[in-house]
Amino acid sequence: MDVTYQDRIPNNVGLAENRSLQRALEHWQPEFLNWWDDMGPAGSRALDVYLRTAISVEKNGWANFDYVKMQDYRWGIFLNPAQPDRKVNFGVHKGQPAWQAVPGEYRSNLRRIIVTQGDTEPASVEQQRHLGHTCPSLYDLRNLYQINVEEGRHLWAMVYLLHAYFGRDGREESEALLERRSGDQDNPRILGAFNEKTPDWLSFFMFTFFTDRDGKFQLCALAESGFDPLARTTRFMLTEEAHHMFVGETGVGRIVQRTAQVMAREKTDDPQKLRALGVIDLPTLQRYLNFHYSITLDLFGSDLSSNAATFYATGLKGRYNESKIDDDHVLRDVEHPVLDLEDGRLVTRPAPMLNALNERLRDDYIKDTIAGVGRWNRQIEKEGVPAKLEVPHRAFNRRIGPLAAARIDPDGRVVSEAEWAARQDEWLPGASDRAYVASLMGRVVEPGAFANWIAPPPKGIHYRPLDFEYVRFA
Ligand SMILES: [Fe+2]
Ligand SMILES: [Fe+2]
Repeated sequence: MDVTYQDRIPNNVGLAENRSLQRALEHWQPEFLNWWDDMGPAGSRALDVYLRTAISVEKNGWANFDYVKMQDYRWGIFLNPAQPDRKVNFGVHKGQPAWQAVPGEYRSNLRRIIVTQGDTEPASVEQQRHLGHTCPSLYDLRNLYQINVEEGRHLWAMVYLLHAYFGRDGREESEALLERRSGDQDNPRILGAFNEKTPDWLSFFMFTFFTDRDGKFQLCALAESGFDPLARTTRFMLTEEAHHMFVGETGVGRIVQRTAQVMAREKTDDPQKLRALGVIDLPTLQRYLNFHYSITLDLFGSDLSSNAATFYATGLKGRYNESKIDDDHVLRDVEHPVLDLEDGRLVTRPAPMLNALNERLRDDYIKDTIAGVGRWNRQIEKEGVPAKLEVPHRAFNRRIGPLAAARIDPDGRVVSEAEWAARQDEWLPGASDRAYVASLMGRVVEPGAFANWIAPPPKGIHYRPLDFEYVRFA
């Protein structure tokens, strides 16, 4: 698995031996760079940023940390090493050798899976484009750019698969990935949450905690795929994804910590007083949490889905940790509980597991999320403040699936349209919350300094001190 860094496109897939593929990707490369200039982090071209760059796929030492000019960042194509004799591990082809080429009958489904994943990567870069102007510290600015370049690399990962395995269709899809725009009326990104705005750093940290975590679960499900190149590609993406969730979890955690410190010191939980002191009150944090959680739950798709059943049965997309689950991996006669509405109430009913696989992946996601929110609550406890953030009911504020047909509050109670209208500002960020958070967004770029509304992290990046110059302005 040699990595070639001398090539125009760094890779460990032997690109130099496949001339036509190399040429096709070298043709796409300038289009990608144009997109990055137009839609990537604004004003970052000339900055020197202390970044990690993927240089191998070995467990230890896959990344190199050094200053890189943003315009010189090298996006590469990296697959995890092949597992010898890997098999399809689930569905009707279970036990057959994993596919090294696309099975003809699954071509369009596989392409759709890859395009849908690929579309989220540039989308988040577009959503985060302007955040650099309001960074709370150099440390955080560097983390933003790190995530941005890696989402760019994730796009490369999917575009490689499209070019290498889907011929002309794949090339067309790769172009389209650079043409859609997050939030665009006429040509939006494919999935809802990726068309929302990420206007401030609280949204950014919530996004990377909640929505990048959806990425983790989707990638884990694809890492089980019987289509081996997809499995190997997504396995490597997961090593990068972990950092994105770290940024989200510690980002919100540091905001929570600062708020709880001020609450303890001033002996108050009054949002107005806390706002006057320049920190983000817990009810506002709760509303942001409710928003990002609910729109991310929608990303898993409809509760009952024949596509999900097909993707599983045909070996294209597995469950989270599929290979570690102890069952028949075919799931024909198994059931799974799903939520539904009946006479204006939420009810749980059994559904065929194969059709409920989106819901099953959502269950895994929810467990992981609750654990993370629990870690935020420990920050509050540590300051001796008797308050808590909570994960809302999974039926709250859903726009996809049967639950979208009703208004459901954070406790899982079906409410009338009138009650929803009257109380939605208690549950979701309203204009005044967004305006307050926006008012906090300044630009802190002095090494070692942090905005007042967020606590400094306990340590710097890659053994560097907190006052290290993580970003150098020319
Ligand atoms: Fe990604
Ligand atoms: Fe990510």
